[in-house]
Amino acid sequence: MFSPGRIGPLTLRNRILKAATYEGLSHGSRVTRDLVDFHRAYAAGGVGMTTVAYCAVAPDGRTSPHQILWTDEAMPGLRVLTDTIHAEGAAVSAQIGHAGPVADPRGNKRPALSPSTRFPNIAGGISRRATRADIERVTVQHAAAAVRAIEAGFDAIEVHLGHSYLASAFLSPKINHRRDEYGGSLENRAKVGRGILRAVRDAVGSRIAILTKLNMSDGVRGGITLEEAIQTARWIEADGTVDAFEMTGGSSLLNPMYLFRGGAPVEEFVDVMPQPMKTVMRIGGKKFIREYPYQDAFLLDHARQVRREIALPMVLLGGITDRASMDLAMCEGFEFVAMGRALLCEPDLVNRIAADAATPSLCIHCNRCMPTNFVGTHCPVIHDGSSRSVTWGTPAGYA
Ligand SMILES: Cc1cc2nc3c(=O)[nH]c(=O)nc-3n(C[C@H](O)[C@H](O)[C@H](O)COP(=O)(O)O)c2cc1C
Repeated sequence: MFSPGRIGPLTLRNRILKAATYEGLSHGSRVTRDLVDFHRAYAAGGVGMTTVAYCAVAPDGRTSPHQILWTDEAMPGLRVLTDTIHAEGAAVSAQIGHAGPVADPRGNKRPALSPSTRFPNIAGGISRRATRADIERVTVQHAAAAVRAIEAGFDAIEVHLGHSYLASAFLSPKINHRRDEYGGSLENRAKVGRGILRAVRDAVGSRIAILTKLNMSDGVRGGITLEEAIQTARWIEADGTVDAFEMTGGSSLLNPMYLFRGGAPVEEFVDVMPQPMKTVMRIGGKKFIREYPYQDAFLLDHARQVRREIALPMVLLGGITDRASMDLAMCEGFEFVAMGRALLCEPDLVNRIAADAATPSLCIHCNRCMPTNFVGTHCPVIHDGSSRSVTWGTPAGYA
């Protein structure tokens, strides 16, 4: 775990990545001091690489109107962020993507793009069916974002092909009902994702490491299957367009908790969501935010099947919380692990595990961190013996 590892042109000091957890700390599409401090904590806390979550490649691809865009105005702040992380000895990756039907049409003041209009977007409205010109535009915007990431000092980019964001929505037969060259067969449905990766690789070569976060399952009947995901990963590997895979699952549009497992914080979502989503969540939240039992390394069963078919480095994600789950990942042939909630809970957990392999994680998988992205993502739970204080939403007696 604590030996250097390579992803394409990049060597990391260890095998542990901070997974993208949308921070809710950018403002006016620019970096804030809080965002820099957020990532500094993980870098100082020992991760090999932290991931700046979801930087949209286009205004209509944002899930929140304040999300980082790759504009001239954002560049100085992004440079401060990457310099800060490097000063702590860690590398830094930018997650790039277009949210498609998961984008916020009200906040963006633009319709959400989707493979088909037949499927409601995240706001419950009708999406605009992406035209060929839209697909070409978004593809070029990914390449431009990757170039900008190099200019801003990032070591890696993580191209988002999961969670029903645009490229993943095209892959999903549940959402993609097209009859043209982008719909129907898996080969057609994979064209948008593969085309984006091709454009990114052509634009950056090996000047920056390229990872992709790819869905293994949408967690819904009729969605992406593991077999299809394996075939897609094989094609991507043969295309030579990525340096590592991070396999994921679930759908921000159809089944968000499939990706998380653990508690379903419906009331906390109702508290912080803007209208009309607040009312929608109050009425339908229990159905939408379905609860799944948590277990460590909960994506391993699926991910090891991809591992068998892929030679490139792979990152195991989902329920990595302690040295035992990290060692399990290494034994199963993964070169890296990514940690989300356990690090939100304790940003210095990696250093503490390095010092004492028996260090347990304090994360209880209650998922109350999820709705905090509306106010600045953090773990709102007080743990006995910790100096952490509650800044939002901890129910009385919850400690
Ligand atoms: C608050 C929060 C925000 C997240 N935001 C993102 C995101 O912007 N992009 C993404 O790909 N995944 C996002 N995720 C998912 C995580 O990257 C990760 O896949 C998930 O939390 C499972 O890993 P874990 O068990 O280590 O937490 C988010 C997770 C949380 C808890």
